[in-house]
Amino acid sequence: MTPQTAILPAASSHALFLLLRRRLGRRIDGQLAKYIAGFHSQLMEFNKSQPDTPVLAAIGIGAECWAELFGRERPAELRAFPHIAGAIHPAPITNADLIVHLRGEQADLLHDVASDFLDAVRDWLEPVEVTAAFRRREGRDLTGFVDGTENPEDDERATVALVSEQDPDWAAGSYLHIQRYVHRMESWNKLPVLQQEAIIGRTKHSDEELPDDDRPRTAHISRVVIEDENGEELALLRQSLPYGTPGGDRGLYFASYCHTPRHFEKMLTRMVAPTDDGRVDHLLNFSRAVTGAAFFVPSIEKLTSLAK
Ligand code: HEM
Repeated sequence: MTPQTAILPAASSHALFLLLRRRLGRRIDGQLAKYIAGFHSQLMEFNKSQPDTPVLAAIGIGAECWAELFGRERPAELRAFPHIAGAIHPAPITNADLIVHLRGEQADLLHDVASDFLDAVRDWLEPVEVTAAFRRREGRDLTGFVDGTENPEDDERATVALVSEQDPDWAAGSYLHIQRYVHRMESWNKLPVLQQEAIIGRTKHSDEELPDDDRPRTAHISRVVIEDENGEELALLRQSLPYGTPGGDRGLYFASYCHTPRHFEKMLTRMVAPTDDGRVDHLLNFSRAVTGAAFFVPSIEKLTSLAK
């Protein structure tokens, strides 16, 4: 089984996230299913004209419209974006049915692929939000901190991101969560670096983790580093990137791939709700989620099977 191409590779210079929902009263029919099934082979053709800068893609399908495409067959843990009880920071749930995550080295190519996609699905799906994101130098988020340092590497990336023998019918698929965060840049930039470091839990310039003793429980890292009952750290493969315009709305387009939705759900809960140790993530005093959605990204073979 082959994972969709946007999931595993290291960060690209550009990404486009197309968030879509079904038009009112429209059901997904065979014609749309056929188009989605053929998307990756069309993209392979497209990439032949620019072989050095291929466009990578992942199409994810939400729990609510899943059955319209795949019928009764479904991944074991497919479910909607979590509603987090007791949350004191926003974790809004966006009404979205499908996502297309495009990545590559040339923004113009992503633009062309996205435009063709939107034209082809227009009768059934309307865009909720289209977000262009970009990699900053050293992979730094707009907060100035390197994002992605503790991402899994090498073979671990597939182990973390892809479903395997635990759900063999959906092997090489992945649970994708996205949230668009808007940073309060003016307030953040007024903070002394030492305070910013206590909020993230790492040093800014040298990108090192603060020692446990110096790291507040409210630091971002303290909220998202969680061990399971065997002492193993829960992992995600994050493909987040900064987005936005100088002076306008800007922040982080968070995107994570995982073999289960549980890791994201636990981490987000510890960020927004004071349910376990009474703490929440102080980063959220400076950044607010304005969208949130969950999808399953099936293997290329499963997606292609929709043509039948
Ligand atoms: C780590 C930024 C949201 C999960 C980090 C790091 C930064 C960062 C700078 C440290 C470097 C690294 O290892 O990547 C942000 C920002 C966010 C955000 C600016 C939004 C405003 C989230 C969310 C989750 C999450 C929503 C999951 C629900 C993680 C994880 C790590 C991490 C798992 C690695 C922790 C470790 O193993 O040390 N984040 N993050 N982040 N973040 Fe976030």
